Formats: sequence, structure tokens, C-alpha cells
Amino acid sequence: MRSMLFVPADSEKKLGKGLESGADALILDLEDSVAAANKPAAREMARAFLARHVPTKNRPLLMVRVNALDTGLTDADLDAVVGVRPDAIMLPKAEGGRDVSHLDAKLTAREAVAGIDDQTIKIVVVATETAKAVFSLGTYEGASPRLSGLTWGAEDLSADIGAETNRAPDGRHTEPFRIARSLCLFGAVAAGVQPIDTVFPAFRDTEGLTRECEEARRDGFTGKMAIHPAQVPVINAVFSPTPEAIAEAEAVVAAFAANPSAGVVNINGEMFDRPHLTRAERLLKRAGKR
Ligand code: COA
Ligand code: MG
Repeated sequence: MRSMLFVPADSEKKLGKGLESGADALILDLEDSVAAANKPAAREMARAFLARHVPTKNRPLLMVRVNALDTGLTDADLDAVVGVRPDAIMLPKAEGGRDVSHLDAKLTAREAVAGIDDQTIKIVVVATETAKAVFSLGTYEGASPRLSGLTWGAEDLSADIGAETNRAPDGRHTEPFRIARSLCLFGAVAAGVQPIDTVFPAFRDTEGLTRECEEARRDGFTGKMAIHPAQVPVINAVFSPTPEAIAEAEAVVAAFAANPSAGVVNINGEMFDRPHLTRAERLLKRAGKR
């Protein structure tokens, strides 16, 4: 997944626009973008939308962001949508692998009742929304076979720690948030799941978004969340492996294939060793080449 577009689930118009956005995934939101009074209506709209679109071909992945486990709203959110088989549930304000195991159990019970195969529905976690959560980023490995991605959030974390802002005047995240970002990346890779970069709220600033996407890709994130359809093409472009990157990766794989016992190879005067091979194989997998 390169791009994941948030769509407030109580907006019929945005649900429709989301489908046409070109996003690899839509995140139907029942949490922060939906006011408390609208939650029941949003659940119904999410359910109807999924019932209509999950069975169709050539659609984006469809996930639902439920309310956090400590809100008392999660069960009603899940009851509304599990039967219509969303591809994944996004869990906000998670504080470690135990929260994922907890959600896994809730999903297992509901899948059984609905006659859906166990572990059909995956889990993506927003893993840095509280200070406590930041200290549990190393606990996601093995939490659930459903876990398929970890992402991070700077907005709720700012509120939790009392930060005046999470970005410096140049638009880049300030130190506490860069730490959360890095730990999310390490935590995702340690757990063997996709590291997904957070949202860029200034949705008219294409230059700023492009820079943030490029920095995320540079560091190892393989996708980014969006809040506005205009952000989707930018994210898709930056996270699609370029023909040059694919050609280089193919050259690395070919060089090691030609020298199966070599730990290190020379390609046009540059050293490539096993970590380069791993990186090349990963890139080709993402590009759909293997
Ligand atoms: N998904 C689908 N469609 C969206 C959209 C989204 N996230 N954001 C905007 N659109 C639609 C608008 O409805 C509008 O449609 P129209 O041309 O038919 O009127 C069009 O795209 C252009 O939108 P624009 O006028 O530029 O912005 P807006 O003022 O309507 O919306 C936000 C701005 C921020 C309110 C909106 O982008 C939004 O709701 N984003 C998602 C917020 C969210 O989910 N946050 C939680 C995660 S952090
Ligand atoms: Mg939030």
C-alpha cells in the first residue's frame, strides 16, 4: 500500500470521492473525524459502503478506523462492520502488542459468528499517539498474524505530551515527534510489517508533502496516509519504485545469482553486499517484479 486516504465515514460525498481518488486503500474513519453524535450514523454508512464495494473488482483496499479500546465504542464499531468484511481494521491509540492481541480476539469471535474465515481481516495500528505508546513500539512482534502495518501520529501525541506544536517553522517535525517516527519505523520492521508514514495536514502544500514523502521513503517507510484526495497522486508517485531503482535492484540480484557463494560483489566499481541484496529483493517485491 503506497497511499491510504482517510475518509470520514459520515460523509456520503467524501466516501464517493475517495473511491475515485486512486488511493491504494481507503480508511473509513469512525474515530477522530466523526463527532460523537454522528458515530451511529457513521457506522451505518460505513457498513452500507463496505457491503456495496467489498465484493467489487478493481477497488482500493477498504479498512475501517475504529474508536480506541478504552472508549467503550470499539465493540459497536466492530459489530457494525465485521460482517461486511473490511480488508483491515485500523486501531488508533494502541499501546503495544497486547492491544493488538485484544483486537485480534474481538475479530476472531466476530468472524466466527459471521461465518468468515479466521484471520481474514487484517490489523493496522496507529502506534505513537500517547507517550506510553512510544515506549511499547518494540512489543508488536508476534502480537497477531493479522498485524500488517504500523503507522504513527503526531497530532494526538502533541496533545498527550502538551507540546505547543509538532512542526518547526521549516515544516519538519520537531525532535520528540521524529523520535516517535523513527521508533515506529524500527518497531514495524522488527515486527515484520509495513512501516507507514503519518499524515501531512497542510493539504494544499504539494511541495511540503513531496519533501516529506521523499524523506519517508529515504528512511524506509513504504507508504503514507493522506487526508485529502489531492495528496494521493503525490504519495503514489513517490512510493512507486522508479525504473532506475528497479533496474539497479535487478542488477544486484543478478550479480548475486551469478556468484551464489559470494558475500560481496562489484557492480560498476561499487561494493554491494548481502544487506544490499535484501534491500533489492524487497524493492522488487514492492514493484511486483517477484
Ligand atoms: N476523502 C474524500 N473526499 C474528500 C476528502 C477526503 N479525505 N477531503 C476532501 N474531499 C473532497 C471534498 O468533499 C470536496 O468535494 P467537492 O469538490 O465535491 O465539494 C473535494 O474533495 C475538495 O475538497 P476541499 O474543498 O479542498 O476540502 P474540504 O474543505 O472539503 O475538506 C478536510 C477539507 C480537511 C475537511 C477534508 O479533506 C477531510 O475531511 N479530510 C479527512 C480528515 C480525516 O479523516 N481526519 C482523520 C485522520 S487525521
Ligand atoms: Mg487522532
